Amino acid sequence: MKFLVVAVLLISALAMATAQEATDACYFPTCVAPGATCLSNTTNSDTYFCQTGYYCNGDYDTSLDFPTCVKYVDVGGLCDTKTYRCRPDLTCYTQGAVPTCQKLSYAALGEDCDTSLQCANSNTECNPETNKCTLKFVNNAQLACSSSFDCAYGTFCNVTGTTQKNLCLAWKANGDECTDDYQCDYASVCSPKVGSTPVVNVCNPQFSKGQDQICTESVQNLDFGLTNGVPAFDCDIGQGLQCNGTACVPRVASSCNATQQCSNVFESCACGSVNNIAGSRCVSQVNFNTECKTNINNYLTCLKENQCGAVNGDVTKSSCAVEKCSKYICNNPCVQSAFSCGDAQTNFLCIATNGASFFAPSMAIVLIFAIVAMLF
Ligand SMILES: *[C@@H]1O[C@H](CO)[C@@H](O)[C@H](O)[C@H]1NC(C)=O
Ligand SMILES: *[C@@H]1O[C@H](CO)[C@@H](O)[C@H](O)[C@H]1NC(C)=O
Ligand SMILES: *[C@@H]1O[C@H](CO)[C@@H](O)[C@H](O)[C@H]1NC(C)=O
Ligand SMILES: *[C@@H]1O[C@H](CO)[C@@H](O)[C@H](O)[C@H]1NC(C)=O
Repeated sequence: MKFLVVAVLLISALAMATAQEATDACYFPTCVAPGATCLSNTTNSDTYFCQTGYYCNGDYDTSLDFPTCVKYVDVGGLCDTKTYRCRPDLTCYTQGAVPTCQKLSYAALGEDCDTSLQCANSNTECNPETNKCTLKFVNNAQLACSSSFDCAYGTFCNVTGTTQKNLCLAWKANGDECTDDYQCDYASVCSPKVGSTPVVNVCNPQFSKGQDQICTESVQNLDFGLTNGVPAFDCDIGQGLQCNGTACVPRVASSCNATQQCSNVFESCACGSVNNIAGSRCVSQVNFNTECKTNINNYLTCLKENQCGAVNGDVTKSSCAVEKCSKYICNNPCVQSAFSCGDAQTNFLCIATNGASFFAPSMAIVLIFAIVAMLF
């Protein structure tokens, strides 16, 4: 779909939740408490995860005999790339020689900003008069859009491919011909029109196709975790349907073992038990049911009500989607019980954190930094 791009499969964080790939040694992840040891185990190094909001200091200092889970630096805090690490959703940004953790690159076109660093798209800048992200001015002329991320909520970039200027045009209506999802409403997908010969693509409402109706897998954004936009999916998941490449069909479970992966993209191979690949089975990472469908539809309604613009990439904590609609991301019935530990995107989007605004390093931090700088 259009809200965010890319039809990539981003369920790896979820796969961790219920299953380890059977080709691994079948260890299960352990959640380590703040201050507790996260001792690296070279045979088994990736099974320790610090509680969300903490990281293992043994990850950068391998000489530590007993590395522990230490807290990430919050917004406005002093940072470096080693000891004082910013929370993964923040950037260590240096202004006036003081590096602090800041929220950058989250605002879509038309959304509020204090500085251009907050505008997500490289073609945009913060207009100092309106405090909104707008297309940049170059040589006194405003740039034309080059992708739909350059367009405000409710519009898409009409890329002409000619010398004719690209314009942001209003979303097409359902049933109108289209060439990509961004041309359609958030709650619609650009996909084959049912019953058309030759097949034409039109804007179809999300989840609107019944069993055996035409679909294409290529239009699907399969991120049912909702951290990379919303799934672009025209088969009715409420009826348990998914696209087999040509038609919407009921999901068929596949099987797996040490050498054979699950063939269904929504499944991952779960170990029978710890350190035992025997008894591995394919487990669905997505609940194809009405609760999932309702949640996604409510999320789309929320994005529309709040007129959240499109941002290229994963949703971030300060984005409109998370600020206004996080309950649909954080209490998402589409995905299997999440392993709420470690640095997975959803964990960060859903933990409460300090919401200080941009460039608010405390005076104490500035002073400490100045003193430290004098010492070395
Ligand atoms: C590392 O993990 C392996 C496999 O679980 C275990 O046999 C070994 O004792 C562990 N080593 C340490 C130092 O904990
Ligand atoms: C939109 O783009 C098409 C080419 O893809 C062009 O023919 C058409 O004139 C454009 N529409 C507007 C309003 O610019
Ligand atoms: C998908 O399902 C349809 C309808 O059941 C069937 O005709 C078609 O062969 C299937 N395609 C693939 C690639 O499995
Ligand atoms: C895995 O499953 C495939 C297909 O069922 C089978 O051919 C293969 O021998 C199995 N491999 C192992 C290691 O069990």
